[in-house]
Amino acid sequence: MKFADEPLAYHPKVRSMEDYETLYRQSLEEPEVFWSERARALSWFYPPHSTMDVDPESTDVAWYSGGRLNACFNAVDRHAAHRPNKIALVWAKNEPGAYERISFRKLKHEVCRLANVLKSFGVRKGDRVCLYMPMIPELVYAMLACARIGAVHSVVFAGFSAESLRERILDAGCEVVLTANEALRGAKRIPLKHIVDDAVEGLSLVHTVLVARRTDVQVPMHAGRDHFLDEVMDKHRSTCPVEWMAAEDPLFILYTSGSTGKPKGVLHTTGGYLVYAALTHAVVFDLRPDDVHFCTADLGWITGHSYVVYGPLVNGTTTVLLETLPNYPDASRIWEIVDDVKATQLYTAPTALRSLMAAGDAYLETSSRDTLRVLASAGEPINPEAWRWYHDQVGKGRAAVVDTFWQTETGGVLVTPLPFVTPAKPGSATKPFFGVELAVLDDQGHILDKDGVSGNLCVKRSWPGQARTLYGDHRRFRETYYARFPGLYFTGDGCLRDEDGDIWVTGRVDDVLNVSGHRLGTAEVESALSEHDAIAEAAVVGIPHAIKGTGIFAYVVLRPGVSYRSEIELQGALKEQVRHAIGPIATPDGFRIVSALPKTRSGKIMRRILRKIACGETENLGDTTTLADPTLMDELLEKPVEGAA
Ligand code: WT7
Repeated sequence: MKFADEPLAYHPKVRSMEDYETLYRQSLEEPEVFWSERARALSWFYPPHSTMDVDPESTDVAWYSGGRLNACFNAVDRHAAHRPNKIALVWAKNEPGAYERISFRKLKHEVCRLANVLKSFGVRKGDRVCLYMPMIPELVYAMLACARIGAVHSVVFAGFSAESLRERILDAGCEVVLTANEALRGAKRIPLKHIVDDAVEGLSLVHTVLVARRTDVQVPMHAGRDHFLDEVMDKHRSTCPVEWMAAEDPLFILYTSGSTGKPKGVLHTTGGYLVYAALTHAVVFDLRPDDVHFCTADLGWITGHSYVVYGPLVNGTTTVLLETLPNYPDASRIWEIVDDVKATQLYTAPTALRSLMAAGDAYLETSSRDTLRVLASAGEPINPEAWRWYHDQVGKGRAAVVDTFWQTETGGVLVTPLPFVTPAKPGSATKPFFGVELAVLDDQGHILDKDGVSGNLCVKRSWPGQARTLYGDHRRFRETYYARFPGLYFTGDGCLRDEDGDIWVTGRVDDVLNVSGHRLGTAEVESALSEHDAIAEAAVVGIPHAIKGTGIFAYVVLRPGVSYRSEIELQGALKEQVRHAIGPIATPDGFRIVSALPKTRSGKIMRRILRKIACGETENLGDTTTLADPTLMDELLEKPVEGAA
């Protein structure tokens, strides 16, 4: 078998805009050549015999057909063979100053033990396994153990409620769930096992729950179903054969919010995803062999999958797993970790930067941050003020800032500057990555060819990292991404392409909110509110929020005859309801009780109006003549909105 034991040697070096343009042109003009070269950064059991195969009718996409490989082998074994003592994982624990370093050799042994455990509980190739865990090494072991034996992991962010977890377990048909007795997040303890117990209560589907022990707290164990992970891992060997997967075999499912209905199980496959994650990781972060890559994302999100686990480990890079919060116990923590682990890249979200910035520059004084070369941002538009602070204060003007635009569905970065190469523009994600052919369309579906235009951001052709389907619902996949502008992948975002051809992503144009870099459907929050006894109907809109980027504002219509003691008390109950149904991230920031919602005659809620009113705008509300009940406007405009942040 051919080993690509030095993956970095196979990634292109981009040192100038000229290099970027040459390679970008090649990636579009000779995609076969470009993408088959890129596949050489992976170790294949059988090399692929083609690059891309797309059926546009069904939007069925296949990359690297004929190839066989294993994600865990690429992320772990090949490095364990060539540089066993290199640190794979630096675990920055919740307790200040506490770290644990795990070598590639140790990583391999732990992953194998856990893979053997999964097999002993009946997990086979193609089975889905749910991971509802804190940011602890066992979560990384579990993802890689699934990959090793060909099982499909579905990581559910450990801030989601029992109800959300149950929905995701059921949708993916997971028979095995991994969790921990509890999670430590800053000063809080989150009773994960307890939440899992609620989520799987009465579900015969789930026959096994494996519980990592993060703390000493005692939790009830359900005989026959629950086992402590350390105990069962002790019983198994530290070697386990890898399952050679077809390039298009599923690697993982990750749930994300859509504009309507239940969460979408975004499915990524093996070959294309890994090529794209590793390539973008190497190029976007200007990767060098001894780098320490520090991405603060939770593994419950795609950024954690691609740029904490798969990208870095496939490239043989030391990666940091952050258990704590960036500002625990105070806002100097994240910078102290940078110094302690000697991080060369930092990858975080604008919302975190804004809150650290608000804490004041004094918190930067306990660290030097001199090891940092690349400062990256993702998840939401970065405001120029936060960009400048990141560049001038955090990086002392010496590190390059890259604003990376992408999505759960894209697998890896789509639009980004390249560090020390692309001229910086605070607030712009600038240029498409290799192989990504962008198009900006107006609402009528015309492609806007010129520069200096605004419209809907689409991608014209497939790229290896793209999602292949929504688990169990390919029709929804087609309708969500390929129907609005037939034949093109629609991101759901609006953008401006400026006179230099640089992209400025302006935010979602559908009913999806981006709250602190997390995606939430307005429909999800509305249905959570409507589950409350007092609520007849609810409408949710996004409002500007200084730290979160977007805050949630809810208009609620009460059921006839409902009485409440005070509005504050009712709001408290509604917040609790949303936390219970979705999780704390979806808690509304403001409420207003109204007698009815503004709707068109066909019954569609006019969110445009509600959004403006929630933002305090009372003029330029646009056309209100299509309202079914125009008199409602008087009520809506009556009093200024309270509680808006
Ligand atoms: C949505 C995707 C970045 C992966 C993690 C989030 C918004 C993401 C940017 C950016 C402006 C951005 C978009 C996108 N978004 N990055 N650099 N500039 N907006 O993945 O949860 O799937 O969210 O986040 O609205 O559609 P996600």
